[in-house]
Formats: sequence, structure tokens, C-alpha cells
Amino acid sequence: MEITLFLGSFYLLWNLMRTIFLTGANGLIAQAILNTLSTADFKIIAVSKSACAFNASHCIFEIADITDFHLLETLLNKYKPDVVINCAAISKPDLCEVNLELCWNTNYRAVARLSEYCTYHNIFLIHFSSDFIFSGKNEVYSEISTPEPLSFYGISKRESELVIQRNCEKYAIIRTSLVYGYLPRNNYSNFVLWVVKSLQNKIPIKVVADQYRTPTYDFDIALAIKVLVNRENIGISNLAGKDLISVYDLAMKVAQIWKLDGGYIEPVMTSSLNENALRPKSTHLDISKAKNELGYYPNSLSEGLNLLKNRMK
Ligand SMILES: NC(=O)c1ccc[n+]([C@@H]2O[C@H](COP(=O)([O-])OP(=O)(O)OC[C@H]3O[C@@H](n4cnc5c(N)ncnc54)[C@H](OP(=O)(O)O)[C@@H]3O)[C@@H](O)[C@H]2O)c1
Repeated sequence: MEITLFLGSFYLLWNLMRTIFLTGANGLIAQAILNTLSTADFKIIAVSKSACAFNASHCIFEIADITDFHLLETLLNKYKPDVVINCAAISKPDLCEVNLELCWNTNYRAVARLSEYCTYHNIFLIHFSSDFIFSGKNEVYSEISTPEPLSFYGISKRESELVIQRNCEKYAIIRTSLVYGYLPRNNYSNFVLWVVKSLQNKIPIKVVADQYRTPTYDFDIALAIKVLVNRENIGISNLAGKDLISVYDLAMKVAQIWKLDGGYIEPVMTSSLNENALRPKSTHLDISKAKNELGYYPNSLSEGLNLLKNRMK
């Protein structure tokens, strides 16, 4: 009898919780969001293209390719979310430059369909965009600065923003930059982890000294998303770190915090790397709007890196 009552109230509570449909769930930012939201009162449906790469005890995991809209729609109809957070993307600019179709289908077409679905079903859509929609010539970029992408990745992200703005009434477009974090249970890397691993293994690396970013701690983004899911229609918002730094200086700071030998890091110019995708020189994202509207006060770079180092212990 007691067990039946307990199960009954659990079932009732589960149904009263707001449902969040999180795509790209195996990825870096989605994992931080999942960790942060699963401690709150949300029912989370985590969707990714590959098999589950994390402990999914606090959510329901489904495998789905967001470019297969028929399958995605079946899942959306099944779970009837209040909020969709789209973290699924081809996030590597060089890959986008050589596989245009994969990039366009994932970063644009799937988003276009998702935005139509969300509008029709009155769902709040939160979508991730990038600092790579800018050319990198401005000193600072606010939400109303003019986009001018240099790469196909940048174009696909900018077009995804535009289609959401055309289709949706309730949306948030989050622009972020050089995110660092840690995923213990899968192989996903990011710049900071790459530097740490290379220096730990005494592998010399070349790092660009003429590109500047505002590196962003993954859990800072996730905390802002926790505030955001209870709002509706904030439009475009920059969620980035507060310190502008060259990528080379970032690598040296990593070496200093992890107490590794920075002598293995060679500063190079962008032109010497011959990468497929052009990259903006400097993308200083202004975070005033997020401070005012979401109470977004991110960690300093030193704080974020130290937090990450502790997480990795
Ligand atoms: N990380 C950054 O520095 C950064 C900077 C600016 C903007 N952003 C944007 O932020 C968002 C999230 O980035 P992230 O760094 O978390 O990316 P990530 O670590 O590369 O993760 C992206 C995830 O998307 C999933 N995915 C790819 N194609 C898919 C498809 N067709 N269907 C379903 N899932 C698919 C992958 O799933 P599987 O692993 O399951 O295959 C992957 O886990 C992206 O929109 C990215 O453009 C990131």
C-alpha cells in the first residue's frame, strides 16, 4: 500500500515537472547543462546521435539524428517538451569546410525544421550559436553587431539564427566562444584539455598568437541556461567568459595553472597553420545583456581553469 502511494506521488510529480528536450546530449555544453539541470526539478530527455556516453540515471536517453526529422518529430510528439535546447551541431569549423552538406543539414536544415515544430507547438527553443558568425575586425561584439562570417561553419550558424528569428516567437539564441570543460566518460576534447594532455605527455604544440577569444567555462553557461529555461523569448544573448586573451596566452596560462612546462608551446601566426576554415582574429563578446537579464556573472579565466583542474582530479 505504502509503495503504491509512493509510486503514485512520484508519477504525479514526474508529470508536473517541466520537460526539457536536450539535443547533442553527448557533447561538451549539453553535458554541463544536463549536470546542472538534473539537480533541479526538470524532466530531461537527452538526445544524441551516438550511443549514450554518460551516466544517464537522471534523464531519459534517446538516440536520434536531428537531420532525420521524422524520427525527431516522433520523439518530440512522444515527450511533448516545454523547452527544446539544441546543442547538436557539427561544431568543428574545418570539418564544415570540407563536408558542406553534413554541416548544412545539421547546423541549418535541422534547426529550420526544429524551429517550425517549436513554433507550431508553442515550445521555447534555446539554440547555440557561435562567435564565428563575426569577422573578428571589431574591438567588441554586442548582440546587435553586424555578423559577417568568414567560414562555412560561421555561415551555417548565422543562417540558423536567422531562420529561428523568422520562425519563432519564443526563442533564445546563445552566442558563445571557446568553451572549456571536462567530460570524464567520453573522448570529447576541447582546446584546454588538448593543451593539458599534450604538455603532460611532453608533446610540442603550435598555438596561434594572433587570435583573441573570451574563453568560456562550461558550467557558467549551464547556470545561465538554468535561469533561462524559466524565461521565454530573450532573443539573442552572448554567454562568454569575461577575459579577452590570445589563444597562445591561454595555452601558457593552462601550463601555469597545471604546473606543466610551457616550453612545449610554440607561438605561431594563423597564416602558418593552413587550416581549412578561416577564423576571426578577435571575438570579444560583450556580456552586459546577459548580466542584466540573466544575472550572468561568469568566473574569471583563472577561476574557471582552477575549477576545471579540480574537477579533473
Ligand atoms: N565548444 C565551443 O567552444 C563552442 C563555441 C561556440 C559555439 N558553440 C556551439 O555550441 C553548441 C554545442 O557545442 P559543443 O562544444 O557542446 O559541441 P560538441 O561537443 O561537438 O557536441 C555536439 C554534439 O552534437 C551531436 N550531434 C552532431 N550531429 C548530430 C546530429 N545530426 N543529430 C544529433 N546529434 C548530433 C554530437 O553527438 P554524438 O556525440 O552523440 O555523436 C555531439 O555530442 C554547438 O552549436 C556549437 O556550434 C560551441
